[in-house]
Amino acid sequence: MPDHPPPIQFVPLTVADLPRLARWLAAGDARRWYARRDMSYADVQAEYGPKISGVEPARGSLIELGGAPIGYIQSYLIRDYPTYAAALRIEPGAAGLDLFIGEAAYLHRGFGSRALAQYIREFLFTEETVSCCVVGPDPENAAAIRAYGKIGFEYVKTVQVPGEDCPEYVLRVTREGLK
Ligand SMILES: CC(C)(COP(=O)(O)OP(=O)(O)OC[C@H]1O[C@@H](n2cnc3c(N)ncnc32)[C@H](O)[C@@H]1OP(=O)(O)O)[C@@H](O)C(=O)NCCC(=O)NCCS
Repeated sequence: MPDHPPPIQFVPLTVADLPRLARWLAAGDARRWYARRDMSYADVQAEYGPKISGVEPARGSLIELGGAPIGYIQSYLIRDYPTYAAALRIEPGAAGLDLFIGEAAYLHRGFGSRALAQYIREFLFTEETVSCCVVGPDPENAAAIRAYGKIGFEYVKTVQVPGEDCPEYVLRVTREGLK
């Protein structure tokens, strides 16, 4: 990592970004661990359109590195998703996060963990009502579990969310624990 790594910024997702999102979700690690299925462009519109319009409570942003988009991150309050909340049985102030690095050249180079910690500091732990943040990778997703562990996430439990094809390895971080 250079002395002054390029800055990371978060830019709210727009409809104009959906082709890029669809391209990212169709291949590589993002396809394998995040999309976990083949997604048509219509599927991508159906999944992300409501987050852009505000119909769905989750907020989505592109992760930009030095001004260039390299990935995607979204956050939400777990309690806004009752099925997920019932499966997780976690404190009411918990915020959930999902992310992926879409540009393969930027995978496993420290950007995902750095982006996640920065996003949590800028957008989640600035909210008094958010008491902790939660991620739920596939238990076999060793790179994600390692990335989250580096910034202070700790394992809580493994849960099976109804309707999902694999269990979630739930990790949690508090204000005090975030590195
Ligand atoms: C998960 C993700 C966002 C993490 O971002 P990242 O920039 O790759 O993460 P980092 O580089 O900060 O950390 C990854 C760590 O895993 C390690 N790693 C990479 N491949 C690995 C593997 N197969 N097994 C174990 N560790 C692995 C890396 O060496 C690195 O650890 P290190 O810094 O100690 O060397 C990114 O890998 C990604 O987008 N993956 C595909 C989609 C995905 O899994 N999303 C998360 C769903 S919850």
